Amino acid sequence: MGVMGLCPNACTRLPIRVIRLQRRFNFFLPAPAPSLFWLKVRGFPGIASIFTRAASYDAVSSPDDEVSTSTMCNQAPFSGLEDVMLGYIFGQRKVTEVAHAVWKKVVRKGDVVIDATCGNGFDTLAMLRLVADENSCRGHVYAMDVQKEALESTSFLLDRSVSAGERKLVELYAMCHTKMEELVHIGDVIRLVAFNLGYLPGGDKTLKTLPDTTLLALEAATRVVAPGGSLISVVCYLGHSGGREEFKTVESFAAGLPIDGWTCCKLQTVNRPLAPVLVLLYRK
Ligand SMILES: C[S@@+](CC[C@H](N)C(=O)[O-])C[C@H]1O[C@@H](n2cnc3c(N)ncnc32)[C@H](O)[C@@H]1O
Repeated sequence: MGVMGLCPNACTRLPIRVIRLQRRFNFFLPAPAPSLFWLKVRGFPGIASIFTRAASYDAVSSPDDEVSTSTMCNQAPFSGLEDVMLGYIFGQRKVTEVAHAVWKKVVRKGDVVIDATCGNGFDTLAMLRLVADENSCRGHVYAMDVQKEALESTSFLLDRSVSAGERKLVELYAMCHTKMEELVHIGDVIRLVAFNLGYLPGGDKTLKTLPDTTLLALEAATRVVAPGGSLISVVCYLGHSGGREEFKTVESFAAGLPIDGWTCCKLQTVNRPLAPVLVLLYRK
């Protein structure tokens, strides 16, 4: 299997190369807009504990062999997922597309979401489109990465893809995702934390997410997401060294979450052993 098959966002590599070429030759680059590009180390001192929507959305507990339901799940129509799921089953859609389609069913305009590994910004952009409510200036994306190159790539993608008003709804941070709680303000209702693990496509493959820090970040994510219908979405890549171990770490963390508060599942192509796996942790 070629490298393309293993890389996250493989089909988007061409635009990234174009962006890098543009940078190298210094053309087409928009003037940087410092007021819009929030590149901060460690964010604010504020910490939050944000279980604000608890009572009305509390999950109905059920025996192990039954499917638990939350109020939000009962109310939400699931149409729209069929196409992408069938596309995935027929080998025509990527697991990242399934992830985005599931996010769409959980996230609402005005929500606050976290991109824990912003990389080249494709997930950040997808999240922004879900939350952006320009009229009320509501909706917010906290996006982070440990690599400056990744944050620049994300900023560049956002600058050319969204309006100035929408762009203001994203804050980019140069920080490790284990510290995500430092970004969250009291009152933020975090509906989604997304991880797209591994290395920066088109970047240095030795700079990648690692099982130990991923585990700490997952623990942090479980503390920040709001009860009553929120999601932690994790795309794991198995093709690079350490990738399978990291997936196992994610899987066993998910398997250990209590069933009265969480529904955890994975989407895996079993006859492509190196295919990326989507692990979804749904907070009821
Ligand atoms: C597969 S890429 C993410 C792709 C991205 N979501 C996108 O849509 O383009 C993984 C990213 O995780 C970043 N990363 C690695 N370790 C990290 C950490 N501890 N905290 C935050 N980001 C990290 C890498 O620098 C890399 O850019």
